[in-house]
Amino acid sequence: MASNITFTMIKPGAVRNGHIGAILNEINKGGFKIVAMKYTKLSAEKAGEFYAVHKERPFYGELVEFMSSGPIVAAVLQKDNAVEDFRTLIGATNPADAAEGTIRQLFATSIGENAVHGSDSDENAQIEANFHFAGTEMFS
Ligand code: CMP
Repeated sequence: MASNITFTMIKPGAVRNGHIGAILNEINKGGFKIVAMKYTKLSAEKAGEFYAVHKERPFYGELVEFMSSGPIVAAVLQKDNAVEDFRTLIGATNPADAAEGTIRQLFATSIGENAVHGSDSDENAQIEANFHFAGTEMFS
């Protein structure tokens, strides 16, 4: 798959707070095509593996616990310049710093429970998409 994709998760807090539909609406309004999507739950082991790059950070344990605390929506999104444009759409990692109208400003409650994940590079978008989806589950 080409590098015009990004990977996202609607995190357990946003799911619990009933924001799946509203967040998907923002993603659609942002011009992204959903090429893969599933409603699923990460085990602590899988969440730890997904966020392994943060293993040494003080918030790693809390992050793994939160990300495995309930169901998520995982999705692969396609658009020109997908990684950068999606990061603009979701806003800063800390919702306190997120621009007006961004997904995190609208739906996140804290830096840890920040509503959505977005890939930070084309390379990681591919890795993260492949972590959650088989090739037969992506429809570009
Ligand atoms: P995400 O984009 O999914 O990538 C890593 C996550 O770590 C990030 O969103 C935040 O939810 C979380 N994170 C980053 N910094 C902190 C922090 N200082 N305290 C708690 N969680 C954090």
